[in-house]
Amino acid sequence: TDLSKIRNFSIIAHIDHGKSTLADRLIQRTGGLTEREMSAQVLDNMDIERERGITIKAQTVRLEWKGHVLNLMDTPGHVDFAYEVSRSLAACEGALLVVDAAQGVEAQTLANVYQSIEHDHEIVPVINKIDLPAAEPERVKEEIEEVIGLDASNAVLASAKSGIGIDEVLDAIIERIPAPGGDADAPLKAMLVDSWYDPYLGVVILVRVMAGTLKKGQQIKFMQAGTTHLVDRVGCFRPKIEQLTELGVGEIGFITAQIKEVAQTAVGDTITDAKKPADAPLPGFQEVQPVVFCGLFPVDANDFDKLRESIHKLRLNDASFSFEMETSAALGFGFRCGFLGLLHLEIIQERLSREYDLDLITTAPSVVYEIELTHGNGQLELHNPADMPDPNTIEEISEPWIQAVIYVPDEYLGSILKLCQDRRGIQKNLTYVGGRAQVTYELPLNEVVFDFYDRLKSISRGYASFDYEQIGYRAGDLVKMSILVNGEPVDALSMIVHRSVAESRGRHMCERLKDLIPRHLFKIPIQAAIGGKVIARETIAALRKDVTAKCYGGDITRKRKLLEKQKEGKKRMREYGSVQIPQEAFIAALRMG
Ligand code: GTP
Repeated sequence: TDLSKIRNFSIIAHIDHGKSTLADRLIQRTGGLTEREMSAQVLDNMDIERERGITIKAQTVRLEWKGHVLNLMDTPGHVDFAYEVSRSLAACEGALLVVDAAQGVEAQTLANVYQSIEHDHEIVPVINKIDLPAAEPERVKEEIEEVIGLDASNAVLASAKSGIGIDEVLDAIIERIPAPGGDADAPLKAMLVDSWYDPYLGVVILVRVMAGTLKKGQQIKFMQAGTTHLVDRVGCFRPKIEQLTELGVGEIGFITAQIKEVAQTAVGDTITDAKKPADAPLPGFQEVQPVVFCGLFPVDANDFDKLRESIHKLRLNDASFSFEMETSAALGFGFRCGFLGLLHLEIIQERLSREYDLDLITTAPSVVYEIELTHGNGQLELHNPADMPDPNTIEEISEPWIQAVIYVPDEYLGSILKLCQDRRGIQKNLTYVGGRAQVTYELPLNEVVFDFYDRLKSISRGYASFDYEQIGYRAGDLVKMSILVNGEPVDALSMIVHRSVAESRGRHMCERLKDLIPRHLFKIPIQAAIGGKVIARETIAALRKDVTAKCYGGDITRKRKLLEKQKEGKKRMREYGSVQIPQEAFIAALRMG
């Protein structure tokens, strides 16, 4: 293909601003299909592919328009997957910025736009949903200029729903987004943009060719991983799979090479010719590092093997979470797992319980702390609060910080600032755009991992949006707070906190647990402690004797029934010494309220 006839672009949009609808329209328009044919043909074909188990991941599709090849690159929308997003963007020369004509610019859009600008993209603003009565395209244009600093005078006005402005969008892609560059005669350099597991094809790899040509039958080498493979399929999605013989420089498409696990295909790796390799890999490669860790334990110890199997299966298709076996005195056998962020954690947890039907106990999520030991004894990374070394051997503890951008309507600003302040935030910036405020805060990640996002949403009735990036480690006065139930420490509830908030967190945890743990025949003290020092205490009163005395009388069948019931109940409980703690307590106790 003639390089000057190729355009590679992505679509940046806030959730619900119409990215999928617009993508569908572009496919429909360029395929020359009517709406009826579109639903009949394309979807039917998709069904067949689904039956065959061929997954068409996302919307990375090749379109043809006025003699040009347009590659639409889908990008994941969430902050947890920022590195994947950066690689997708590095595979393109431009982006459509879709903004809802009634809603205007949102925080998440902003972060993605800035990333796109960093990649030197040409950005084409598309103001969507102009069919809505509440549409204010002129105001949104101003907002794009004011907030993002992007010329919006030639923004395309569109309605993906009614099909207005679709040709204009396609024309703008050709006219305004530059063609890719690259040397067709140089040794092959292709970027591994994404990969996923397909039960029929094995691992499918999405690539962007930066130099040379990628051919079927070629022996290739992954420069970071150091492995070699034989390419057995080359192709693109239209959106149906179409096999090709090669991908030229500047092109986007997929390959398969009989690879069994996505873990072997690191996003950002450089694919080169094994026999005639490139001198140096493409810049910007990063190994993805999990940032949030928690323990996953089966509620029923008999489910451990099932949990292990399920985790291995999930890992086949998601190389970005890590796991290793963990044993806890209280919870038995389980796994310590690492995730890219909280959303990622939730996705995996949800899949384990839904798809694999597992009842799990999740221990408090924790970030990774860096600990400097005294007497030059070196450094260590702490992934699990339970492994915290003796404080006397610690010179300094550092924790990861983030920079957060929050976008919120004026009337909720006060409560949002208070929330950030309570979480040890440092305000960096505050500006107003229209009736909304944009606040920038630096916050310790450990103050954000648990329920910050939920709080933010509930305080602002869903109107605040939030985005963050990591900005490195900073030393802090951090201590391990243990929770003791009936005098015994409960590992799964121990957490690392800043000394300044330890007492209020401790008190809160004890109060919560008091409500969450059922009464027993004896008094149960619940304590929060730092080192040997108790900083908060509550007591669960004992059940009165006569209430339970009844259970022990009566006939034998009634007794057996009661025992059965107790067994069922016990499954969902965990025993600590002689105290039973219900599963819900582990997570509920950690919500800061
Ligand atoms: P996610 O897939 O959740 O990220 O959302 P998205 O950005 O892909 O938005 P999507 O295309 O799913 O559209 C969100 C909603 O807006 C849907 O209900 C669409 O029907 C609607 N919508 C999309 N484009 C238009 C438009 O031009 N006009 C109107 N009125 N509604 C639209």
